[in-house]
Amino acid sequence: MKRLVVLVSGQGSNLQAILDACQQGRIHGNVVAVFSNKSDAFGLERAREAGVPAHVLLASQFAEREAFDRQLMREIGVWEPDLLLLAGYMRILSPAFVQHYAGRILNIHPSLLPKYPGLYTHRKAIENGDKEHGTSVHFVTEHLDGGPVILQAKVPIFANDTEQDVTARVKNQEHAIYPLVVSWFVEGRLALRDGAAWLDGEKLSPAGYAVD
Ligand code: GAR
Repeated sequence: MKRLVVLVSGQGSNLQAILDACQQGRIHGNVVAVFSNKSDAFGLERAREAGVPAHVLLASQFAEREAFDRQLMREIGVWEPDLLLLAGYMRILSPAFVQHYAGRILNIHPSLLPKYPGLYTHRKAIENGDKEHGTSVHFVTEHLDGGPVILQAKVPIFANDTEQDVTARVKNQEHAIYPLVVSWFVEGRLALRDGAAWLDGEKLSPAGYAVD
């Protein structure tokens, strides 16, 4: 069984999807610990509910990002993870942190990358009149929201949609694709090599895996 550590800052609905997939045997792995930079993150509750140790590390207790990330690395290291998952973790990671976990750290970002890196992706898509939006699972590299895409899911945007409508539609897709990608990794099918994502020995296109 592979060991997963999940980092959250908020609701933790993606964490829940991963916990459920592990519990149901869709991911041959276990979430061994959850970390949050927010003490009131609901994701911590979800972890405790699932019997998973939940840890909080507050940035306010560190003078600089590098020191915070070093401590986070130390605490995560205790759990000897095979894979680190960012699931709504809303803090930029230092290059040293990312390098340490290179090839074994994934993120889910709520846009069809490379479109809309950063924040407020749903709002931007609506304001720009986009008819299509979505979410991307990607390897984490030093480029913010810029690592190789593994899998994307698209959703429509309808004329009268609110930001909440689009958020809910996107999250629904996230709960399907993130556990799926994690299962690929855990089964040894997925790798980061030469700056690209590879699945079953095939280099994925910039938009990730596509069925066609
Ligand atoms: C998700 O939609 C995820 O894609 C996004 O935060 C949300 C977390 O929801 N991540 C980012 O914006 C990272 N740049 P959750 O806490 O319910 O899983």
